[in-house]
Amino acid sequence: MPRNPLVMIVDENVPFRQELQAMLAPAKLAVVADCGYGVEAASLAEETRPDIVLVAIAEPHLRALQTIEAIRVIAPETPIVAYAANPDFRIVRQAMHAGVRDLLPMPLKRDELLGSLQRVLAAPIPSEGGLDQDEPARPASAGVVLTVFGAKGGIGKTTIATNIAVAIAKRAQNSVLVIDLDTRFGDVAIMYDLEPQVTVAQLASQVRTLERATFRAALQRHASGVWVLPSPKHPSDWRTVDPDDIRDLVRFAARLFDYVILDTPGAFNDIVGSALEVATQVLLVTSVDMASIKDTAFVLDLLESEGFPKERVYLTVNHANGANAIRAADVARVLRTPVFWEIPHDDEVVTASQLGRPVVLVKPRSKVSRSLAELAAKISGASAPEPRRRGLFRRLAPVSAG
Ligand SMILES: Nc1ncnc2c1ncn2[C@@H]1O[C@H](COP(=O)(O)OP(=O)(O)OP(=O)(O)O)[C@@H](O)[C@H]1O
Ligand SMILES: [Mg+2]
Repeated sequence: MPRNPLVMIVDENVPFRQELQAMLAPAKLAVVADCGYGVEAASLAEETRPDIVLVAIAEPHLRALQTIEAIRVIAPETPIVAYAANPDFRIVRQAMHAGVRDLLPMPLKRDELLGSLQRVLAAPIPSEGGLDQDEPARPASAGVVLTVFGAKGGIGKTTIATNIAVAIAKRAQNSVLVIDLDTRFGDVAIMYDLEPQVTVAQLASQVRTLERATFRAALQRHASGVWVLPSPKHPSDWRTVDPDDIRDLVRFAARLFDYVILDTPGAFNDIVGSALEVATQVLLVTSVDMASIKDTAFVLDLLESEGFPKERVYLTVNHANGANAIRAADVARVLRTPVFWEIPHDDEVVTASQLGRPVVLVKPRSKVSRSLAELAAKISGASAPEPRRRGLFRRLAPVSAG
């Protein structure tokens, strides 16, 4: 006897996902996965291999369409049926172009929905696929892992990581997770005024058996929509953490979130090694003092010798320490590397961090907030790169020595 067809539902509206499940169950259509937009939809389609995907085309439409395209890249044979409120000609056209096989108007009528699913399931798979052949194939089942790193402490890594996370989350409602990998004094939770509950050390120890739901339930949500996984309270709690587990935990997270942003300590250790190994992009922060520039030169050499693609290293000059005669152009010349971004000094940063609130939210019009928002836009405008290969950065000192 053939098994019941497996359906995956993609809709940001969780109660409506449950309503749909109830509609489908009597027709022997089993919902194998349900989630919102973004990279998680693609990774779930890859993992659960549904027979059909049912997607809401809701605001923001672009995000819905990008999600459909990501599913089409990862599971090209899986047919997609969509539904939308008041679908106008433009949406119908875009949906069809993205490879949707049928588009139903809201409110959904049970008979119409079941009829459509059954028709599409029974139809042969179109040979050329629905995607535009000019569309570049991209690895869609994992999000961007952005490691914010710098060779020194106190240069603004946490400030940048926490603020760009908020700015990226606001852009087209990206799902963003910040993981605090500062093995000394992790302060991401403080910056977001959150009381740490489950920490990255605890989740790393269970990574081999971790389920998506358990992982999600352990995360904390900032009012901006950014998800947070704090570091353990005491630096000594890091001693038992296996850097391989951290690497695997970040990869796991990247299958659920469009962006995983890693904050790191101003030191080298094997946890930092994992954070660099899994990075798809490194935001390399330097302040404008000679010591920081010298240490940054060392990091650039290290990244190059490990084969990390230069174009994925975003050298960012942060004027964390006030007025300084050295300019970004001088930094670029000394380091023989273009400066990707320059963040001005602004006392608003200090005031906001004392309040435990990201400056981009408290003072969105300040010069530093505008700069951080533009940096976030530049980063999230870039395409998602290939995941990196294993085994790099393994010569870094273990964390107990960091
Ligand atoms: N552009 C800026 N203008 C003014 N102050 C800044 C700026 N960037 C960072 N700061 C301030 O510099 C200090 C250090 O910043 P932050 O904690 O983000 O650095 P860090 O590199 O994460 O340090 P650590 O390695 O110790 O974690 C904070 O007081 C922060 O408010
Ligand atoms: Mg920090």
